[in-house]
Amino acid sequence: MPKLDLLDPDKITENLKTACIGKKVLVFKNTSSTNDIAAEYTRNKKNHGVAIFAEEQTTGRGRAGNIWLSHPSQSLLCSIVLTETALANEMLSLTSAVAVTEAIGNKAKIKWPNDILINKKKVAGILVESKQYRARKAFVIGIGINCHQTKEAFPPELQTIATSIDIQTKSTTDRISLARRLLVSIDHWLTIADKTPSEIISRWENLSIQLGHRVTVICNKKKYTGTCIGIDPVKGLIIRLETGGIRIFNAAHTSIEK
Ligand code: BTN
Repeated sequence: MPKLDLLDPDKITENLKTACIGKKVLVFKNTSSTNDIAAEYTRNKKNHGVAIFAEEQTTGRGRAGNIWLSHPSQSLLCSIVLTETALANEMLSLTSAVAVTEAIGNKAKIKWPNDILINKKKVAGILVESKQYRARKAFVIGIGINCHQTKEAFPPELQTIATSIDIQTKSTTDRISLARRLLVSIDHWLTIADKTPSEIISRWENLSIQLGHRVTVICNKKKYTGTCIGIDPVKGLIIRLETGGIRIFNAAHTSIEK
């Protein structure tokens, strides 16, 4: 069992060089979902950049209504409050994927829309949620990164498709350093997304595990197979279909079969 590297807000924020992400960091020992706490923080516009971490979630959630399971202190469970971004959902999702992948390093890659893989196994996931207030929209970027899990810690059905940074690096991840890298990376890539969104697209394409490869997606219960030829920052994944033609698949209605 790895040593308990409990998250400490003072250590996470010490000399943190970010413009706004992580200006305030809260660490909960136990919560329902860090996205729930972050959603509360979106009510006040001044909370832009607040980062919520938890050692344990009782009802962590993933995309498409899935649950996100993690034993206490094994993962980095984090939600970032964004109340002042002009970015749209899809662009925010691409930017978060780039930022999280860069923070993890170790040859991590992106599987559209928001899975982060090392050696083709899922090491992290991202859930972007939004809140509409009268004249403004706010977002929560929820990030779950597997850190200390052993293979046996995953349920049998996930053991061949999930992994942790410790398994992949054969070492013990320092979650505090990872939390700091994560905040710096999100801060950095959000600034880039505002100024030069084309940079996000090209970095995303560099980090994509699917670009140039054959993929099968399921959209509205129908299967489509073809070659992934790019990403549209508004519409989604661009596929040249084997049946002919090019089609763009929206993340909200599409899942990847392989
Ligand atoms: C997915 O791959 O389905 C996305 C998983 C996102 C999980 C994180 S853990 C921190 C935050 N709180 C949640 O309840 N979900 C996100």
